[in-house]
Amino acid sequence: MTTKQVTVFAPATVANLGSGYDVFGVAIHAPGDIVVAERTKEEGLTFSVQSKKKTVPSTTKNVAAHVATLLLEEVRPPFGVRMVLNKLMPVGSGLGSSAASSVASVVAVNELLPKQLKRRDLLRFAVEGERLASGSPHADNVAPSLLGGVCLIRSYNPLDVVQIPMKKSPVWVVVHPHVIVRTEEARNILPKQIPLRQAVHQWGNVSGLTVGLMDGDIKLIGKCVEDVIVEPVRSKLIPAFDEVKQAALESGATGCSISGSGPSMFAVAYSIKQAKEIGKAMSNEFRKVAGVKSEIYISITNVEGATMMKVQNG
Ligand code: HSE
Repeated sequence: MTTKQVTVFAPATVANLGSGYDVFGVAIHAPGDIVVAERTKEEGLTFSVQSKKKTVPSTTKNVAAHVATLLLEEVRPPFGVRMVLNKLMPVGSGLGSSAASSVASVVAVNELLPKQLKRRDLLRFAVEGERLASGSPHADNVAPSLLGGVCLIRSYNPLDVVQIPMKKSPVWVVVHPHVIVRTEEARNILPKQIPLRQAVHQWGNVSGLTVGLMDGDIKLIGKCVEDVIVEPVRSKLIPAFDEVKQAALESGATGCSISGSGPSMFAVAYSIKQAKEIGKAMSNEFRKVAGVKSEIYISITNVEGATMMKVQNG
């Protein structure tokens, strides 16, 4: 029996987790992107986008089309693929929007193949979507969106991803203000060199974060998301950053930083109840101080990553 059509959901991700620039990322449950892919007789890719925004490219410039084409060119199956990307996620949000599209796309195409690649083998295609979107094949959004959980990119050359075993998940609060920050620009403004003192501070936090995540120590996780290298530079791109962070901490968050390249911000909470209060306080601050509307997402760690919503055989 062969798979004729699949519907795949790939979740949003919080990359960096503060101190772990390009190294850490966690999958959350919502939002996410959906891809529907089906086999066609004629070879190659037929691609279209369903989106409320007209700015999402519907051509090969779209990351989903790009990574699907790369996978099809390598595998050369005796059929083609018709793909519709249901672009639900906001672009330039710091929620791993391009990663979700790329991941949903490669997982969907892979599911149609007679001889499927392992999930991990799909990573190298998905990172190409990030290269197209931001000029850099960073893996800290695609890895957790594809594999689930918290992923640690131990090495880029060769690409080596470690999934952190977690005893207990913190509750992640993610607040997305309605402003756009382009990842490429947010990367270009970062320093090329950093003082050793700062590096020491940061790798202390990154190591502490690993232990905190493994032990389910919410206080330690919060302490260790502190980012002394990237956040001071990128926070300038986020309206009301200081006030929003302060509101999160005053509401009981154990830590707060930028989600990915921003403008979304995330905070670490003990419980859903507390997370709701933190989210509300952060969102209020965005509105009060910057006059900016925002969405609040509350989620424990999504350990599944991309999932099959529907599979049709034929
Ligand atoms: N690690 C990447 C960055 C994530 O911070 O630029 C982008 O979502």
